[in-house]
Amino acid sequence: MELNEYKNLPKIITGIPGPKSKLLLQKQKDMESKTVIYPDSFPIAIKRAENSLIEDLDGNIFIDWVSGIGVLNLGYNSNIRNAVKDQLDNIWHALEIPTETRINFLETLRKSFPANMRNYKTIFGISGADACETAINIAHAVRNKNAPTIAFEGAYHGISGGIISATAGSKYRNAVYSDGFKIIRVPYPYKLWYGYDTPDIISMMKKIMDDDESGYEKPDSVIVEPIQGEGGYIVPPDGFLRAIREFCDDYDLTMIVDEVQSGVGRSGKMWAFEYENITPDIVCVSKSIGGGLPLSLVYYRDDYDKKLPKPFHMGTYRANPLALAAGITVINEVPGYLDRVVKNGNDMINKFRKIDSDLIGEVRGRGYMIGIELIENSRPMDAEKVMQIKHRLLENGLLMHTCGHFNNVFRFMGALNMQEELIDSGINIFDEVLRGESYGR
Ligand SMILES: Cc1ncc(COP(=O)(O)O)c(C=O)c1O
Repeated sequence: MELNEYKNLPKIITGIPGPKSKLLLQKQKDMESKTVIYPDSFPIAIKRAENSLIEDLDGNIFIDWVSGIGVLNLGYNSNIRNAVKDQLDNIWHALEIPTETRINFLETLRKSFPANMRNYKTIFGISGADACETAINIAHAVRNKNAPTIAFEGAYHGISGGIISATAGSKYRNAVYSDGFKIIRVPYPYKLWYGYDTPDIISMMKKIMDDDESGYEKPDSVIVEPIQGEGGYIVPPDGFLRAIREFCDDYDLTMIVDEVQSGVGRSGKMWAFEYENITPDIVCVSKSIGGGLPLSLVYYRDDYDKKLPKPFHMGTYRANPLALAAGITVINEVPGYLDRVVKNGNDMINKFRKIDSDLIGEVRGRGYMIGIELIENSRPMDAEKVMQIKHRLLENGLLMHTCGHFNNVFRFMGALNMQEELIDSGINIFDEVLRGESYGR
């Protein structure tokens, strides 16, 4: 089967799951934990993938609007594949000992940030969670070991941490604090359901700092997603990040920007914080930076680096050479797609808004981070119905995932280099399924 003919795709030739997929799904169920979740949303077994197409074992070909949850910003692309293959001929595990690939990656990464951030330092990790954890640890190391961090309602920064508590060495335990982060939670500007706007949120944060009787300990840092990802693809109003930057400057707090999902071109800029011309103190990066191989990093101020104890953050597998080789390709190629992502993203938002369905409560987004929030009877749509719609989309050849405070937001997170035919076909499928026209086919 040739995967590079985009006109007549997707191609669905069996019920979903087909017989071969069904068999593997059952074997997986027998042997793996019941906590495995993605096959619930996408009950297929994958044979192979190319660019933005996925072929299952039964010969069905799907359009991929999930990109491994924003991990494959350039899809399953041959340049990444070749970069990994070339690296494989040399070395695929090197600890922290430099290789040309590692240095090339670091130099390329620096160039991807605004000019005033090119002297920042990098700590590598493996996952988005460990990047965010390291970022808060850096803030505490340079400021106040016992302070809380301000984080937002609906935020997602990962599921990890705590194992340092079981590690004995005081040299590790004294340097990191992730056995018990303290968090102060404030609202994110999620206008569809909640009334808080930027000034309300900033005044809550100021009160925490100014009112010694508030009952809060004084925080030393703020961690924020420039566009809320798992929380529902919520784009905050213009000026939100700038207001947080000013707040952090006024009260001398560290501003941590979590670009794990919004970064590497997904928003239409290389880094979503660039929309507001701010300079974060620390940036968390993961997902697409490794082109599909596990890689994360924290990019942080040089003066912070001087204050870090050693050892500070460790891990056997950090900065895998294959992932770094893929990452160089990603950082070099993503800028070539940004204009197109902005234009196509705006067009897509307009097309989703034109779908004639009273189930659509709001369409919002920036670049290729687009959320379609479904409602019913003026309330968030019930999660079970959302899952049914997700399965209908799959049966019609479209992988599309959900997110949100209420798990009722369908999200477009396709590859930045996706063929336009696959965007149009996907919108048609979404339109038809949502309007119920393909129900019972
Ligand atoms: C904004 C953000 N931060 C952190 C994470 C955690 O990343 P990981 O799943 O690699 O630990 C995610 C994952 O979706 C994310 O969206």
